[in-house]
Parts: sequence; structure tokens; C-alpha cells
Amino acid sequence: MAIILAAGKGKRMHSALPKVLHPAMGKPMLAYVVDAVKGAGVKDLIVVVGKEAGKVKDVIGEEGISYALQDEPLGTAHAVMAARDLLEGSSGTALILCGDTPLLEAGTLSSLLDHHRREEATLTILAALMEDPRGYGRILRGEEGEVLGVIEESDATEEQRAIKEINSGIYAVQIPFLLSALDEIGRDNAQGEYYLTDIVEIAHRRGEKIAAFRAPSPQEVMGVNTRADLARAQKLMARRIVERWMASGVTIEDPETTYIEAEVEIGQDTLIRPFSFLRGKTVVGRRCTLGPQVEIVDSRLGDEVTVRFCSLIEGSEVERGAVIGPFSRLRPETYIGEGARIGNFVEVKKSKIGRGSKANHLTYIGDAQVGAGVNIGAGTITCNYDGFQKNPTLIEDGAFIGSNVALVAPVKVGKEAVVGAGSVITRNVPSLALAVERSRQKHLRKWALRRKKREEG
Ligand code: UD1
Ligand code: CA
Repeated sequence: MAIILAAGKGKRMHSALPKVLHPAMGKPMLAYVVDAVKGAGVKDLIVVVGKEAGKVKDVIGEEGISYALQDEPLGTAHAVMAARDLLEGSSGTALILCGDTPLLEAGTLSSLLDHHRREEATLTILAALMEDPRGYGRILRGEEGEVLGVIEESDATEEQRAIKEINSGIYAVQIPFLLSALDEIGRDNAQGEYYLTDIVEIAHRRGEKIAAFRAPSPQEVMGVNTRADLARAQKLMARRIVERWMASGVTIEDPETTYIEAEVEIGQDTLIRPFSFLRGKTVVGRRCTLGPQVEIVDSRLGDEVTVRFCSLIEGSEVERGAVIGPFSRLRPETYIGEGARIGNFVEVKKSKIGRGSKANHLTYIGDAQVGAGVNIGAGTITCNYDGFQKNPTLIEDGAFIGSNVALVAPVKVGKEAVVGAGSVITRNVPSLALAVERSRQKHLRKWALRRKKREEG
């Protein structure tokens, strides 16, 4: 069983969003903790939530999770008390965790539980040695090294503040002891809160066995209290994610400037060049080349896709072998077919571009269905908005749209039709026809002659 405390106000974040829902690399902090607990094979998960319970449930979901409500955030022990009903009658071990330690790994929780069992302890604290222990509760030890208690920084003496061994706020504890210890906890301390850390001193006083297990790296148990902490945690998380993708066969030219959010998936032998951002639920195929400096959000890229310099792709699908960019923008609900090309200063919105079609320069395509093998010349615009609603454009297979064409929607260009450069198309073009809409060119020779004479004076 595990209890995750997530009802705190997060005062130090100064935010309307509950602290534990602040994302690090695109994933809420609490979700990392939930995943670590699940990854350690712990069943029966209780999350203690406060006023913002609804928001937390929406983000974390209810599968395999019970929620306990702490009406008012009166401290970490008070939060555990809120879960009392769900603990009563159980004789096993509970893991207690905080929702603000996103870097925690499943393996560390398994080791903590193993240690707890091996030591036959009543209470095992996950401890860490911190170069800079500021903000954490410090572990107090006796002459034999036995754990005596945990002192919060705000209650600690100068001497106690020099202790570098800290309490991570994560414990393995026997449930019957926990329940009886909670009854003894008061709020007579600097913060006027019910401190869960008091159970350590209670266990000591009762002669219960207390163990401390050191986290393999202190970073892993870092608690996020402020936005500056969040930025530090995010940086460490970014590095961890990038390392994982490199280990699984993705080439990342510059790990320092590559941001891959937690939920992204990337195929083998893809190359990611510097200053690139892969966000949300993006899935990238194999052997793609992305970057430098591209941003891809909630999109699916097939194999061998190239996304070149300064392109932004959001909520789109791009099929195998397509080339996007440099300087392209794909807006949501765009589908780019196999081998298609979208070039510089081309914006595509809510449109389908068929296999092998090209729009290489300076174009806007919105609310359009473009068939296969279509060529769209530079400066072509689908005029999809009439000031009231969005209208569709249909361009059938093999059509050729000349440069600087305005396609005033709703309008259709038939199969293998050709539209002459500079045309403003307001009526459907039949297939295999040439549509030209522009005034005839005139040559006024006398006019030019007069001008020349004037210049010569
Ligand atoms: C806590 C520990 C401290 C430890 C540190 C590790 C106590 C008294 N202190 O301090 O020893 O070094 O974590 O990061 O336990 N929460 C509730 N309800 C509340 C108060 C808090 O659910 O009434 C939750 C918060 O949402 C958070 C967690 O408990 O996820 C920890 O609370 P926080 O205020 O961050 O405790 P710290 O001051 O960091
Ligand atoms: Ca904290």
C-alpha cells in the first residue's frame, strides 16, 4: 500500500494551480510519483488531496487509485490522518510519499521496501546526504548512530541546521504503528502544523526499530517547493530523458539544448539536432532528422521524415519521407502524406496534403483537401475565411497551381487541371482544364518612348 500526500497548498509556488500538478518536462510532478510507486509494483494507492481534488483527479485519473480528502492543509501528519479509514484494519507496510518529488525512481522505492523488510523495522526513512540541506528536515542520530528523530528546519538550532543528512519525506512504515502514532501528534511547533516527522521520535521513544535507507543519489529525492526548485528539477529531468533516448538508439547532437518531454516516443536512428523541442504526446518514427531548432507538439511523424530549421508542428500527422521546412508551420489537424514537401514560409492548417504533393514556398493552405502529386506554386493562398465562416478548398490529384494564385473557397480544382499564375479562382475548375483569370497584357510602345525622352531632357 502507498499513500501520496498531495493536499498541500504549495504556498511557496504562488500559483492558482496546485503545486503537485505543476509539470516538469510536460508531466505533472504528482504523475511521476504515481508512476514510480506503480513501477515498484506497489498495489493499493491512496492519494491525499485537498480543495483542488477535482483538478488532481482529472489529471491523474482514478484507475487503481483511491482518493482521501484533507479538508484543510494542517500538515503532513494531518494529511495521513485523512486516509485513516482506508488504513484501518490493515497489518501490512505502507509507503508514504510526497507529491513534490518528481525525480524519484521506482528502483529506489523497491530498495527502500527491501531494506525495511530485511531490517524488520517498524519505520524506515528514505534519507539522503545533501551538500546544501536547506529547507529539509534533518535526521537526528544518537551516539551509536541510532535514529532519534527528525527536526524541521524552522524548529532546528544552529547546530542542528549544520546536519547534512536529510529526511526525504518518504517512509516505509508498519500500519498499526502508524495509526497509533498519529494519535499522539500535536501541532506545538514553529509552523503550528501536525508534522508527520514526529512519528520518528515516537517510534524511538517506544523502542520500535527505526532504519534509515540512503537514496542512491540525493538529487532523486529533491523536493520541489518553489518555482526555482521546479526549474532545477526540470533540468535534471530533461537530462535524464535525453540520456534514456540516447541509450535506446537516438542520436542527440547536443543534449544540453534538446528538450524532450516525458511522454514523447522516438524511433531508432533518428537524429535530433540542437535547440529542438519535442513536446506532449509526440511520436517520432525511425531514421528521422529533426532540427536544428524545431518544435514538435502532440504530433505523429512516420519514418524518415525530415523537419528542417525553424519549423513548428502542432497536432499534426506527417507520413514517411515527407520533408517539412525550413521555416514551415503545421497547425492542428494537418495531415501530410508520404513524401510530400512543405517548404519555407508555408503554413498549413486543418488540411490534408496527399502523397508526393509539394508546396515549397510562401503559401497558406487552410481547410483544404489536396490530392496526390499536386504542385502548389509560390504565393498561393486558400482564401478560406469570408469573415463569417471557414470554407473548404478541394484540389484533386495531379493538379498544378501556378504562383500567386488566390483560391476563393468554397472552390474545387479538378484532377490534373492547371491554374495560371496570378489567378483569382472563384468558380470550380474542371479537370484537365487550364484556368486563367487575369487581364490581358498590353504593350504601349509610345508611352515608353515619351518617358525616355523626358528623362533625356
Ligand atoms: C517535508 C518534511 C521534511 C522533509 C521534506 C522533504 C514534514 C513536517 N516535513 O517538508 O522533513 O525534509 O518534506 O521534501 O513532513 N501536504 C499535504 N497536506 C498538508 C501539508 C502537506 O498533503 O497539510 C503534502 C504536500 O502537498 C506535499 C507534501 O505533503 O506533497 C510535503 O509537504 P511540504 O509542505 O512540501 O513539506 P516540506 O516543508 O517540504
Ligand atoms: Ca516539500
